[in-house]
Amino acid sequence: MKLVSAGLVFGVAMTAMASSALAADAQRTSFGKLNDGTPIEKVTLTNDHGMSVSIMTLGAAVHTLKVPDRKGHIDDVVLGYDTPAEYLADPQYFGASVGRFANRIAKGKFTLDGKTYQLDVNDGPNSLHGGADGFDKRVWKIDSVKSGPIASVTMSYDSPDGQEGYPGDLHVTATYSLGKENTLKIVYKATTDKPTIVNISNHSYWNLSGAQATVGAMHDILTLNASHFTPIDSTLIPTGKIESVEGTPFDFRKPTRIGLRVRDGSSEQIRYAHGYDHNFVIDGQVGKVRQMARLEDPKSGRVLEIWSDAPGLQFYSGNFLDGTMLGKGQHLYREGDAVVFEPQLFPDAPNHPNFPSATLNPGQTYSNTIEFKFSTEK
Ligand code: GLA
Repeated sequence: MKLVSAGLVFGVAMTAMASSALAADAQRTSFGKLNDGTPIEKVTLTNDHGMSVSIMTLGAAVHTLKVPDRKGHIDDVVLGYDTPAEYLADPQYFGASVGRFANRIAKGKFTLDGKTYQLDVNDGPNSLHGGADGFDKRVWKIDSVKSGPIASVTMSYDSPDGQEGYPGDLHVTATYSLGKENTLKIVYKATTDKPTIVNISNHSYWNLSGAQATVGAMHDILTLNASHFTPIDSTLIPTGKIESVEGTPFDFRKPTRIGLRVRDGSSEQIRYAHGYDHNFVIDGQVGKVRQMARLEDPKSGRVLEIWSDAPGLQFYSGNFLDGTMLGKGQHLYREGDAVVFEPQLFPDAPNHPNFPSATLNPGQTYSNTIEFKFSTEK
């Protein structure tokens, strides 16, 4: 009798140890096929604090991200589609890892070491997010999937020399990880065999009330740790100036409701973008992971902080969501239903010598670390 009960106690203790050591779990599953039959997989990371995130191999994109609200109710807070095929036809970059060059390059042209390159032009006169078939439209390979105190998945993509007009064979990895804190960490890395330009970011659309909520994101309260931003022209390309946010609708240094100034037509900058679609120059030390932004949804109590070591943050207020996209669960996405925060180098950096350089040489490693931290407020 004694021996048996000792064994039971031992068994319980072992189970408790095993579950605390495996605070986060990673599961690899099929996510259907593209129309040409290419299989797509997804990896779901889950922790024991109510958070889970699914990343699919198409575009190394965040497909679903679930977190609790102030009452413990768990909702998916990112926009997307139910099937991978719908992502291929879509111009919104829902959840995607965008590259080779996240954001715009004027007229798709840049000069490196005296040679001028012409990239695919897919956004009016400019190249956006790597061209028509950027990293978001490519199927990434799963390199590793791990459970443990920190669950993670690493996906990689090999972009050949000349793809979408970019020079050099580029090897890219995206590592997504989740531990016991409700923080999704993403690390992008890239290496090249010829001098090239690189800027990779994540393009998740956040509606902290829930991706299927009947309210959008314009009531959310935003703080941006940015004293300066880079004004744009009418095609959304930076003019090259770095201007103070003081006295403009771009001053989010104190918590401010997004909707308060998103319709401020007295600002030419707001008119050009139909709202916010601008790069903010984040205060503090570039290269150090620091807080860039904080978004609070007063309805659900969910709070999202964005941290990164990148120099800039593109804040986009979902201006092109025009009610024609039928998202997850047959939900129509309309203007301002969600917002995007893209930690990155400055847009059109290769054409502005005063912006931090986007050049990557052989032997160097490009890297961008992004953390999306979730909590709740009463
Ligand atoms: C980025 C751009 C926006 C828009 C979206 C995708 O965030 O800055 O202008 O193109 O991608 O629709």
